[in-house]
Amino acid sequence: MAKQKSKFFCQNCGAQHAKLLGKCTTCNEWGTVVEEIIQKEESRGFRRTWNTTSKVKKVIKAVKISEIYITEEDRFKTNNKELDNVLGGGLVRGSVLLLGGEPGVGKSTLILQIALQMPQKVLYISGEESKNQLKMRGERLQIKNDNCLILTETNTQNIFKSILENEPEMVVIDSIQTLHTDYIEASPGSISQIRETAAELIKFAKETATPVLLIGHINKEGSIAGPKILEHMVDVVLQFEGDRNHTYRILRATKNRFGSTAELGIYEMLSSGLREIENPSEILISEKDASLSGTAIAATLEGIRPFMIEVQALVSTAVYGTPQRSTTGYNLKRLNMILAVLEKRAGFRLGAKDVFLNIAGGLKVDDPAIDLAVVCAILSSNEDVAIPQNYCFAAEVGLAGEIRAVNRIEQRILEAEKLGFDTIIVSKYNKISQKKYNIEVIKVSKIEAVFQKLF
Ligand code: TYD
Ligand code: MG
Repeated sequence: MAKQKSKFFCQNCGAQHAKLLGKCTTCNEWGTVVEEIIQKEESRGFRRTWNTTSKVKKVIKAVKISEIYITEEDRFKTNNKELDNVLGGGLVRGSVLLLGGEPGVGKSTLILQIALQMPQKVLYISGEESKNQLKMRGERLQIKNDNCLILTETNTQNIFKSILENEPEMVVIDSIQTLHTDYIEASPGSISQIRETAAELIKFAKETATPVLLIGHINKEGSIAGPKILEHMVDVVLQFEGDRNHTYRILRATKNRFGSTAELGIYEMLSSGLREIENPSEILISEKDASLSGTAIAATLEGIRPFMIEVQALVSTAVYGTPQRSTTGYNLKRLNMILAVLEKRAGFRLGAKDVFLNIAGGLKVDDPAIDLAVVCAILSSNEDVAIPQNYCFAAEVGLAGEIRAVNRIEQRILEAEKLGFDTIIVSKYNKISQKKYNIEVIKVSKIEAVFQKLF
């Protein structure tokens, strides 16, 4: 009788070991190595299902790169502008996409909505939800489309049978962690199952030129659960991000074999699904009263997309001994650094004050170009003097209190101009000429200069 074959995998990093270990020698995590039985007794002559069911004959012939022609049809639009942009102009036939994100962020909603919006025939395979649940979600989305078929199945052999029967133009798997193949004994979601089922689907996608979209769970570090190799195997890795308490969601590509990873899609979660947001600046700036102190607008970039964002600060006298510093959407260490710069280089006495900082809209911003807006919001709240409504800022603040240049300044200025701002304050070291713009560009080199201009 044939012996069962098993291997030992680290569930954290996907490394394979020869024996059971207490600590993974690759990623140094404890207790993550588990045994996975990978071969059933009867299935020794190991083979992939798709090969046996596929009608496609493989031609083995090497060609010159100049003899390969790309036709326009190799890409098709999904009718979802934000997704098409992120993908670099539509979905490529035969590509395999992996979408990751926190539980509840809206992955299934986004993909079902896209599947329902597409004119192409889509097979949506769910291993997580029942038909009833999917029907209820479809009703919330209020889109009717008979080209979208639903299958609740987790066995890849059965999935391929259904694919052969229905011949969809796109396949969605929700989620890769629920799938299992007959040829491997390990439980669904284990490293070897994920690797094997993904390999079967990738083979299918490449041989039939059908795009496959995999939804993936993420682990506690925020990367896609399962072997890192999964991200290497697929063509596109998408990340769906957002705070569950806020309604904005960001879709970005962290890997894209067919386009850049700089594009970004922004959505708003409504009770009737996700709304595409084409002009993010409008929603991120609250309609404010001219007399409000403590707010400043920054011209920031996410990926390559410029938008205006509102920074709000509140500076008040500390009630308790140790002043509080707290931020949402901005790095707390960076706020502490800016406060130290203001204290030491510009002489503002903020050491005994509580400082709260908030980026409106629940977004997280890493762009250093919002530093100057942070400084101005803090000073505005401290002095209790409002910044003129039509001013905005784009510059980084250095440790010496100098105002530093930032990248892609033209794009930021143009966005500010487009949205009707009159004045933008930038660094003296950004090489730009005023002549090109209708908006007034003020160049500064020190915090004191900004302070004198504004207050
Ligand atoms: P879901 O797509 O199930 O998340 P994931 O697949 O990433 O785990 O999203 C669920 C959340 O989205 C849930 O908290 C409810 C919310 N939601 C809306 O706000 N509006 C809607 O139209 C739908 C369908 C869901
Ligand atoms: Mg889901």
